[in-house]
Amino acid sequence: MNKISIGLAIIAFFLIGFSTAAHAQKNEVKDNACVGCHTMTGATKGILNDWSMSKHAANNVTCNSCHAADQEDKDSFTHNGRLITKTPSPGDCSKCHPDQVKQFNAGKHSLGWTKMEATSRYKAIPEELRASMCEGCHNIGKVYADGSAGKCDSCHTRHLFSAEEARQPEACATCHMGPDHEQIDYYMTSKHGVIFDIDRNTTRAPTCVTCHADGGTHDVSQGITLGTVSQGAFISDRNSGNDYVTSPDGIVMRSITREDFNSGRTTMLSICSRCHSESFARDVLERADEIKRQSDAKVGEAIKIISDLYNDGLLDPMPENRPPNPVTGNKLTLTGHQTYSNTSGIEAQLFEMYKYALIHAWKGAYHMNPDYAHWYGWAQLNLDLDKIKAEDRRLRRLAELEKAQEAEKTGTKAKVPGFEAFAAVIALAALVSIILIRKRR
Ligand code: HEC
Ligand code: HEC
Ligand code: HEC
Ligand code: HEC
Ligand code: HEC
Ligand code: HEC
Ligand code: HEC
Ligand code: HEC
Repeated sequence: MNKISIGLAIIAFFLIGFSTAAHAQKNEVKDNACVGCHTMTGATKGILNDWSMSKHAANNVTCNSCHAADQEDKDSFTHNGRLITKTPSPGDCSKCHPDQVKQFNAGKHSLGWTKMEATSRYKAIPEELRASMCEGCHNIGKVYADGSAGKCDSCHTRHLFSAEEARQPEACATCHMGPDHEQIDYYMTSKHGVIFDIDRNTTRAPTCVTCHADGGTHDVSQGITLGTVSQGAFISDRNSGNDYVTSPDGIVMRSITREDFNSGRTTMLSICSRCHSESFARDVLERADEIKRQSDAKVGEAIKIISDLYNDGLLDPMPENRPPNPVTGNKLTLTGHQTYSNTSGIEAQLFEMYKYALIHAWKGAYHMNPDYAHWYGWAQLNLDLDKIKAEDRRLRRLAELEKAQEAEKTGTKAKVPGFEAFAAVIALAALVSIILIRKRR
């Protein structure tokens, strides 16, 4: 026996000896049997080790407190004579932590799974691959057999379940990264992240949870306005709530009311103003709002160009000549349910523009990161728009040439623009020279 297993055996002995029925369980099996046998057999050693250092172990919350299952639980199975589940749910946590579960349900994390399942990009991925892709992050809103949603071990990992671990920015990093929502890097290289990195002191510099889980709330949606997930939101006094609608720029996003905007902004500013003057912070956030508006307009220009090409039948290939979008079918689909496969070249360019560059511009700005806002964001956005304009001109020129070629093939005179004018000038020149020659004679 090594030191760890001796330690665990002692803990197990302690638990066996002193377990009170403080946390009565569903199937009333004495908790200590799980720890005792797992310690003895060395089964799931790492899990036991994590658990033994947790507040749960210290408070006699053992394997069975979470893993016990009822006959009617859809995910239950018999394990050494006991009915257990491999996937304890927020429903199980809520017996002891009802407030955290309630707050979690009020925020968007709880929608992570259902939002994902509804999108075309999810449906377009072969089923057997999805678990290692979208689902690996969107399981933050995983829906369990008992109907409860939310993977509580996303930030305080099992089986340590430490509040301190969840307070660190790294706890958010696995999911809030990548070209379409790189919050971890926006933050870590912002002035805030740099100060935090130097002395890991949250009284000087804010972390993710300072701004997004104020007072320990599990509702991360508090204080979010235009900068909400995905393509963000725009203020509309007609459409309200969290519906996806088409914005004035043609981008599919949410609409929020002016009142919701004001109340969210007030919440966020109350956090900034613990360290900054409120007017300083307000200016910073209003500048980010403006970056969002102007960046959205750039993408709006690109959407207009592609829609015009579609109306003129010039996309290559046209949506009706490619496999249907899993949600919208053979319609032109830009942003929202737009896919990155079975598309046309110019739409693929728009995909990168709206999903990556646009995002860096304004999400970078909301996280006080000048470089993401500018080089990865605004600069790239402008370059992408120029490439889309060039592709538009190329497609239109090609279409003219093909039309001319077609006309030639079918015998009709090629209608190259300017040809008539050119012919008229030649004819006129010929006429003038004939007159001049005649005059000389
Ligand atoms: C008699 C010994 C014994 C007892 C009692 C016991 N376990 Fe286990 N458990 C094991 C061993 C050995 C393994 C690893 C091999 C396996 O998967 O069966 C294991 C595996 C597991 C697994 C993983 C199962 C899988 O299919 O991946 C879970 C979850 C688990 N135990 C939980 C519990 C809980 C909760 C209790 C108490 C209700 C418990 N165990 C009681 C010996 C035991
Ligand atoms: C505070 C609640 C809680 C306690 C206590 C707890 N677990 Fe878990 N356990 C979970 C959760 C949550 C999951 C992950 C559920 C999911 O994947 O959706 C999990 C998953 C597991 C798994 C499968 C995943 C893996 O990593 O292999 C095993 C095995 C397991 N637990 C064993 C144990 C054992 C053994 C104990 C006691 C030492 C224990 N658990 C105590 C909540 C708990
Ligand atoms: C049987 C009751 C019970 C269940 C079930 C339970 N817990 Fe706990 N939990 C506790 C107790 C008791 C504490 C210690 C509270 C304290 O120290 O104030 C605790 C503390 C915690 C902490 C704070 C740890 C820290 O570092 O301060 C977290 C996080 C936590 N639990 C998460 C969970 C999650 C997630 C689940 C479900 C997978 C769960 N708990 C299920 C009773 C439970
Ligand atoms: C397991 C992956 C995962 C982890 C870990 C994670 N998130 Fe998220 N987060 C998501 C997903 C997915 C969404 C989008 C959910 C949706 O709207 O469907 C999201 C959305 C958000 C939002 C936007 C809420 C809104 O109303 O627009 C905030 C803020 C947020 N997370 C903060 C955090 C913080 C802070 C942490 C770390 C303490 C964290 N997240 C950890 C996956 C994760
Ligand atoms: C997005 C990351 C994240 C997710 C997901 C998450 N938590 Fe937490 N949790 C935290 C943070 C951060 C803290 C520390 C809050 C504080 O005290 O500042 C915490 C603290 C806790 C505590 C200790 C509270 C206290 O006052 O000591 C409990 C209990 C808890 N969480 C339960 C849960 C449960 C249950 C779930 C699933 C519904 C869950 N957590 C999901 C981030 C998360
Ligand atoms: C100094 C405060 C602050 C810190 C620190 C911070 N954020 Fe934010 N976050 C914001 C603001 C401000 C917004 C936009 C608010 C709005 O919509 O008005 C935002 C928005 C978000 C969103 C919605 C999408 C977006 O980017 O606009 C997510 C997700 C998010 N933050 C995650 C994180 C994560 C993860 C971390 C840590 C790696 C973090 N934030 C650190 C202030 C902060
Ligand atoms: C690295 C983790 C990760 C992966 C992989 C991932 N997502 Fe996300 N997703 C997130 C986070 C984090 C957010 C919210 C942050 C933001 O938008 O700023 C999000 C946001 C979303 C949203 C917007 C939700 C809303 O409420 O508007 C949808 C839809 C979505 N993802 C679908 C998918 C699909 C489909 C896939 C796979 C094709 C996928 N995601 C892959 C982490 C991930
Ligand atoms: C816990 C304290 C704290 C909170 C909360 C906080 N900041 Fe900061 N912030 C700092 C510190 C310290 C600096 C570094 C000042 C320096 O560069 O000398 C800083 C720097 C900045 C900078 C870099 C530029 C500059 O000249 O200072 C901006 C922009 C900024 N904060 C905006 C915000 C906004 C907006 C919020 C709220 C969403 C916020 N901060 C919340 C402490 C905080």
